[in-house]
Amino acid sequence: MALITIASAKGSPGVTTAALALGGLWPRPVIVAECDPAGGDIALRMPAADGQVLDLQTGLLSLVAAGRKSLQPDLVRQHTQTIVGGLEILAGVNLPEQNAALTHQWALFGPLFAEVEDFDVIADLGRIGAMTPQNNLLGSAQAIAMVVDTTPSNVVHLRERLAYIHSHHGGPLGVPVHVLVHASPKRGQAVREIRYALERSENKSAGVHHVAHDERGANVFQGQIKGDPARTPFVRSLVPVAAELAQATQSYFRTSTAAEVRVS
Ligand SMILES: Nc1ncnc2c1ncn2[C@@H]1O[C@H](COP(=O)(O)OP(=O)(O)O)[C@@H](O)[C@H]1O
Ligand SMILES: [Mg+2]
Repeated sequence: MALITIASAKGSPGVTTAALALGGLWPRPVIVAECDPAGGDIALRMPAADGQVLDLQTGLLSLVAAGRKSLQPDLVRQHTQTIVGGLEILAGVNLPEQNAALTHQWALFGPLFAEVEDFDVIADLGRIGAMTPQNNLLGSAQAIAMVVDTTPSNVVHLRERLAYIHSHHGGPLGVPVHVLVHASPKRGQAVREIRYALERSENKSAGVHHVAHDERGANVFQGQIKGDPARTPFVRSLVPVAAELAQATQSYFRTSTAAEVRVS
């Protein structure tokens, strides 16, 4: 019922990895939807809950095909799959041709995901720019997360994107925007400097969080699961982020049963 988008402004700072980890930590039922037109890789990198490979044909594209006449929120869960660990995912597209089939659908996904009953949706938008089609989902989001590393030019790109987001959806009464800074646990000072710079800018973020650079923890979300993921610095660094994002969007979550109770 709540839509949370996660994206980057530049490069590949770990958006998909963070989306999967947040999904795993989410306190309510959730679907991680891969809405990165540059290519889906969750189905390629994560095994299914039963250890088999995920079905590449089931996901965003099969959902759009099934909803050709009428794309309804209750269709979404017919196209999700469960990955190892129990998280439900909606696989993205893999080929440019498949992406072309989605051209006219981007404006529909935001309202669609925000209306899925009993589930929140965390949408991985990949890299967003001024003209990218997945920007359409930002307008339906109840919380926005942006991932960045500490490279100065990437931080500059992030600030440009934050200005865009704030002018369209943010501001004091708008949707909260959280920034996830991917950096070595030793680089707390660099993260504090980014937080300080963002706090001084007009486009205030709701929170600037330090996400630990940690290969073993991140590799869990490449399907290489060794030991308990919950104990890795990466996953631990996302625990407060998941809690804060979930808290910020809690009022949007309603179960179908709760809705029925209210009606009766
Ligand atoms: N916190 C992290 N620590 C270490 N490696 C990471 C972290 N986050 C992502 N990675 C690695 O960086 C690469 C890109 O991550 P990915 O999540 O696919 O990025 P994006 O979705 O932004 O393109 C992957 O190899 C992933 O394992
Ligand atoms: Mg990605």
